[in-house]
Amino acid sequence: MVCLGNICRSPLAEAILQSKLDPEKFQVDSCGTSNYHIGKKPDIRSIEIARKHGIDITHQKAAQFKVSDFDTYDFIYAMDASNYSNIIKYSRNNQDTSKVQLILDVVAPNKGLEVPDPYYGGEQGFENVYQMLDSACDLIISKL
Ligand code: 4NP
Repeated sequence: MVCLGNICRSPLAEAILQSKLDPEKFQVDSCGTSNYHIGKKPDIRSIEIARKHGIDITHQKAAQFKVSDFDTYDFIYAMDASNYSNIIKYSRNNQDTSKVQLILDVVAPNKGLEVPDPYYGGEQGFENVYQMLDSACDLIISKL
């Protein structure tokens, strides 16, 4: 799960998807395309929204996307088009490229829908992001 800062959207995406999967069988992680917040805990507003829905994300620490993530993971979900193109820049071959998709493409294929960056907004933006990611993750697990 990849966003820009790895403190708002992708920490929620990671935790929501992992909560729906057997951790013995599926490894879910998240990162950002930027280095802005490396090592930091998720944004307090993401922590609170997750807690409200019964998920603890306080242990997460922000990391930056790296080329070896193409080898580690089978699926790479970008939150928005900017994240998508920044990940694609790192791809070494068609196999890498084929692993990357906009997460909302699982809900509405090829519409280019994005999970909006809630960083500069209010709490409602975080709830909105949570609901979008929860629906997307339900579809992801139904296809695994
Ligand atoms: P995220 O949100 O990409 O969902 O983690 C953001 C977090 C921080 C910044 C931008 C977006 N920032 O500019 O610091």
